[in-house]
Amino acid sequence: MINIPDFIKSIFSSDQGKSVLGIDIGPSSIKIVQLKKRKGRAILETYGELSLGPYAGLEIGRSTNLTTEQLAQAVVDVLRESNATTNRSGISIPMGSSLVSFIKLPKVDESQLAQMIPLEARKYIPVPISEVSIDYLVIPRNDSIASEYQNSEEKPEEKTIDVLLVVIHNDAMARNKEITRIAKLETTFSEIEIFGSMRSVLDQGTAPQMIIDFGSGSTKIYIVERGILRVSHMISRGSQDITLAISKSLGISVDEAEKMKRERGLLKKEGEQMDINEITSLTLDYIFSEVGRVLLNYQKKNERNISKVFLTGGGVLLKGLREKAETSFNVPVVMADPFSKVEFPAFLDAVLKQAGPSFSVAIGLALRRLQDSE
Ligand SMILES: Nc1ncnc2c1ncn2[C@@H]1O[C@H](COP(=O)(O)OP(=O)(O)OP(=O)(O)O)[C@@H](O)[C@H]1O
Ligand SMILES: [Mg+2]
Repeated sequence: MINIPDFIKSIFSSDQGKSVLGIDIGPSSIKIVQLKKRKGRAILETYGELSLGPYAGLEIGRSTNLTTEQLAQAVVDVLRESNATTNRSGISIPMGSSLVSFIKLPKVDESQLAQMIPLEARKYIPVPISEVSIDYLVIPRNDSIASEYQNSEEKPEEKTIDVLLVVIHNDAMARNKEITRIAKLETTFSEIEIFGSMRSVLDQGTAPQMIIDFGSGSTKIYIVERGILRVSHMISRGSQDITLAISKSLGISVDEAEKMKRERGLLKKEGEQMDINEITSLTLDYIFSEVGRVLLNYQKKNERNISKVFLTGGGVLLKGLREKAETSFNVPVVMADPFSKVEFPAFLDAVLKQAGPSFSVAIGLALRRLQDSE
């Protein structure tokens, strides 16, 4: 558990702005961030992370499948342990409970479009339409990617429109509503984790950028261009798979394997019988080849290179991962630094640089709640 001591919070106590929370509920841990606005700047008040493994009788770092009541209890615990002082919040929706897709539709007026979207959405979602909530955004044509039309007879301004389709399973909305009720929160929105990361991680600019969220049970990749999500993709392997592989190969407990993974990462040790680097690389190579495929596909289709890759999620703290990623993708790779979007006391700089990648979603949610309350 990490949190800023009370004495630091007291520095900001004269502030009149209202505090807000971003709550990111992942399968392996909950991350929370509390912000406040002062003179137009977002100020960090506190933050904290709580591993969920122990709530399910599992080790730290493991993915869990807890009941809504257990999750609500964990939220209460992390807020208490972090000394959070507000209940005004935004909560994440896991990418696995959503579908975000970029579709092309005939150019029709707004009311026709509203009727057309659910019919279109049906083609993409494997569950009945009554089980989901649908939202969409028409992408202005000058934000569309001109090269997509290069080999086509169609002129971009004619006939079709580009729509970002966002579908969320009602169960995920209901879960957040119930957590809000039990934990006595005042939640004004639930947001798919993708959008939280985009808000807190990306640079400004027009060149395409990629975010890799390396979590416990899965790895998520997003490509964003001109602030618009263009590709999202989920790989069903994550950092927990490395731990389990080390545990199995070396015949040690999952706890020991987790510790070894965090201590050693991809660093090599001479004279070792079983090279941990090799075990770790098996999972990483699988994930990286999938990421590489998505990256190359996008570059080929759009004839533009990805300018930068941002690493987020607890799994990217693996020592040597950034360097391996840069060599594999041949693109500049940086650790996400979402705390750079907020102000905090200078002496926390090193700690927050290190913790940053884990808190991308929580910070993004808190930043939105802050905007909403202006
Ligand atoms: N220092 C570290 N070195 C290597 N791995 C680490 C380190 N710290 C945390 N991890 C790994 O990060 C993973 C948790 O990442 P994160 O908190 O982003 O996942 P999550 O949000 O709960 O899950 P997901 O993103 O899969 O939905 C765990 O598997 C853990 O072992
Ligand atoms: Mg996560």
